[in-house]
Amino acid sequence: MSKINFSPVIIGTMRLGVWGEKLSLAAQERFIDQCLDLGINDFDHADIYGCYTTESEFGAILKRRKDLKNKVQITTKCGIKLICEERPTHKIKSYDSTAAHILQSAENSLRELGIDQIDLLLLHRPDYLMNPSEIAEAFTQLKQAGKVKYFGVSNYTPSQFDLLNSYTPLVTNQVEVSITHRNAFEDGTLDQCMKHKIQPTAWSPLGGGTVFGKSEDVTIQAIQKVAEALGEKYNAGIDQILLAWLNKHPARIVSVLGTSKIQRVEAALKALEISLTHEEWYELWQAAIGEEVA
Ligand SMILES: NC(=O)c1ccc[n+]([C@@H]2O[C@H](COP(=O)([O-])OP(=O)(O)OC[C@H]3O[C@@H](n4cnc5c(N)ncnc54)[C@H](OP(=O)(O)O)[C@@H]3O)[C@@H](O)[C@H]2O)c1
Repeated sequence: MSKINFSPVIIGTMRLGVWGEKLSLAAQERFIDQCLDLGINDFDHADIYGCYTTESEFGAILKRRKDLKNKVQITTKCGIKLICEERPTHKIKSYDSTAAHILQSAENSLRELGIDQIDLLLLHRPDYLMNPSEIAEAFTQLKQAGKVKYFGVSNYTPSQFDLLNSYTPLVTNQVEVSITHRNAFEDGTLDQCMKHKIQPTAWSPLGGGTVFGKSEDVTIQAIQKVAEALGEKYNAGIDQILLAWLNKHPARIVSVLGTSKIQRVEAALKALEISLTHEEWYELWQAAIGEEVA
């Protein structure tokens, strides 16, 4: 199966709408255009963002601006059921990777986004009751109908990834990776992506914003101190140093950015040019774990 080509960074949409900046449609449209001008065409959605409203806002723009449809590459996710007004039948928050839920969610996302094909559909979180053959059948059905091009997962452990990938090819595992969330470096997630020659995608690559500003947290303070010193050396901001830290890993991690400010996206692209030394990478690791490596 051919591999997906991600743009150098991916634009996360979670905070664009009511779960974050509450940008007007005009502001979202301007932001999409600005990202495309920078050569970034990847937008990361999930059915649940904004309590099932963010996809439809994005879709309203695509429906009006038909020229954008062929320019953007859209990831969306399914498998979490939230309790929201838009989903009155959900009684509790739960995970669902049954074929019926996957197929229905894909249809919903296609309709909300106003597109004919989802470029990449991710299962948002591992469902403890997942049946890999049932998921594979749903994926095959969606692929054959031309409704989804590629499939992947998010927040899967390496063993869960292995299991599902043995039934149906997966093109990424989108996991939380940053200087403040380092499990993927140690639990085999990044190793597995390299083994399969697929690119991991990193959500909250800047710790969801926790690494910025004045903090009472001594770990954050230690990270900031090292990042600021490296920033002086590389003439870069903390954000760029922390993205360069992710970029240094040979798994070729693609950051899913949570900003809606185009200057920060530009800065993230420039960060791809920063090459930290091996020791500098470990200086940040040391600051994050609070001691030298064993
Ligand atoms: N698969 C999953 O389970 C999952 C879970 C969560 C998120 N995601 C995806 O990952 C995307 C990114 O997540 P995230 O938003 O947590 O990522 P993030 O990029 O780590 O954090 C974004 C936050 O950091 C702030 N920020 C960024 N650069 C900054 C700077 N230079 N100075 C000060 N503040 C700065 C942003 O504020 P500004 O807006 O002011 O720039 C925003 O509040 C989401 O949009 C979503 O698509 C996936």
